[in-house]
Amino acid sequence: MEHDPLWYKDAIIYELHVKAFFDGTGDGIGDFQGLIEKLDYLQDLGINCIWLLPFYQSPLKDDGYDISDYRTILPDYGTMKDFKRFVREAHKRDIRVLIELVINHTSDQHLWFQEARQSKKSKKRKFYVWTDEPANKNKAARIIFMDSESSNWAWDPVSKQYYWHRFFSHQPDLNYDNPIVRRTMLNVLTYWLNTGVDGFRLDAVPYLFEREGTNCENLPETHEYLKDLRRSLDKKYNHKVLLAEANQWPKDVCSYFGEGDECHMAFHFPLMPRIFMGLRKEDSTPIIEIMGQTPEIPENCQWAIFLRNHDELTLEMVTEDERDFMYSEYAQHPKAKLNLGIRHRLAPLINKGRRQLELLHSILFTMPGSPIIYYGDELGMGDNVYLGDRNGVRTPMQWTGDRNAGFSKADTAQLYAPLVVDPVYGYQAINVEAQKRTPTSLLNWMKKFISIRKKYKAFGRGSLKFVKTSNPKILCYLREYEDETLLIANNLSRYVQPAELDLRQFKNRLPMELVGGVCFPKIGDLPYFLTFSPHAFYWFQLMKVEEPGEIAAEAVEKAAQAVHVSTKISGTTGRRKKKRATQREIKTKANLSSRHKSG
Ligand code: GLC
Repeated sequence: MEHDPLWYKDAIIYELHVKAFFDGTGDGIGDFQGLIEKLDYLQDLGINCIWLLPFYQSPLKDDGYDISDYRTILPDYGTMKDFKRFVREAHKRDIRVLIELVINHTSDQHLWFQEARQSKKSKKRKFYVWTDEPANKNKAARIIFMDSESSNWAWDPVSKQYYWHRFFSHQPDLNYDNPIVRRTMLNVLTYWLNTGVDGFRLDAVPYLFEREGTNCENLPETHEYLKDLRRSLDKKYNHKVLLAEANQWPKDVCSYFGEGDECHMAFHFPLMPRIFMGLRKEDSTPIIEIMGQTPEIPENCQWAIFLRNHDELTLEMVTEDERDFMYSEYAQHPKAKLNLGIRHRLAPLINKGRRQLELLHSILFTMPGSPIIYYGDELGMGDNVYLGDRNGVRTPMQWTGDRNAGFSKADTAQLYAPLVVDPVYGYQAINVEAQKRTPTSLLNWMKKFISIRKKYKAFGRGSLKFVKTSNPKILCYLREYEDETLLIANNLSRYVQPAELDLRQFKNRLPMELVGGVCFPKIGDLPYFLTFSPHAFYWFQLMKVEEPGEIAAEAVEKAAQAVHVSTKISGTTGRRKKKRATQREIKTKANLSSRHKSG
């Protein structure tokens, strides 16, 4: 990735909070020292980019998204020296680092706000947005944290005016109409770029400006400012990335790419809930429809796609009926709902269903975009809805079945959050150590599929075309890039399913399944027939067969590599023997299939 300006198109991103990953100092809180110790684990998993949640000085009322000093690291997590060492160590392992740029708001503990509220004449007063009459101002702006806030204006008893905030009332919004604020935040960006980081997630980016009579989201002024940020990034630095957190409909999110001159990446928020809807409705339509509404994006841009993250599973980008459906299917626990979303981790959402977990990752790893894995989801970690706010999905990483899940040597009572201890998801049942030594574990499955994904550029860079099928329960699409043509077929149903695929344009191609390297019958004139077990999926490469009866050399090579991956995981010996046997098997199957008329 080192010299590739488009490295983020092939990224497999791992999202983590330094406090939750590994405690290297024994005080009950994860830190950079601990994270460095665990980089080998991440490298072994196969991810190539870390997205770090906020680690700056903060009163931690919103888990660090309430920053009180943009240039200081929270001492609990370590020092600047530790941070820089972490970035260097990650880079040594070919892992890029994205950090958070929380530019929309600060903490009310930030010195700027403290100064601003002391005197209306203070220079910092104009860093924030004030009014005497909140009742009629910016009325069309929605309230995001609707479970805790009743207005976007909060009364400041010190300066006796109201200030504007889109999130918690302890997070006053910065005033982007003030050129000094715009410049100051640009300097913050440069400050962190100089530490060697590879880019930023731009937190809450649609809300930078306010304009009367609008909903105060996605305003042209915001886009202008982002283009400024991008210009200064490109002027001085190479290969750095801006990732927009814009929880918006596809058309509006796309505006954050500009003409390829704004953000490099943006989360595809509307796709995520539709993957879950597709699964429970056993219907590919929601996914196909939302991708149909997603405009093409500039060549140098990329989607960031995800199943879960550190927040509630947000249901802002669905209709009311769809939201009701999602709540009834996925929020059975009375405490599961939060704001407009569901506060569960991935595994509990689907009752730990292994086939469903694999299917969801099949979709995540093969839809257009760079996939994001939320820490612990590679193990199927559970959550604790009783912890309040979103803390239930932010519990310590489960490394072993030992004391404190191997996360910390502190007294258990000292941990920053309680461990998950229930019999189903508790650390004795779910941990890295146990899964490493179980060949069939979810962790080993993830490792295998990440490694397969990394072999084909089409996953990160290819076009997307849905394939017509006779069965809407089958979500089937092509990913094409240069000479790679991949065919993905996912069974969203809990029952076995047949499907006929319209693959006429690929007549005479040989579908080679990417995990085992097994070739399926050649595509002929008739619809291509596949059967699926419950929640099963196939990843194929459609191989061109130059001469009838001959298997393409490339197929043998890739298949041999695939066998190598699975052999390594299961730890069996006799690799060479197995490789030769597979090559023989492929040849035989190819010969057979060249004679076989499919359909
Ligand atoms: C983003 C973060 C969320 C935070 C909010 C306010 O949405 O993902 O965790 O609470 O911004 O900063």
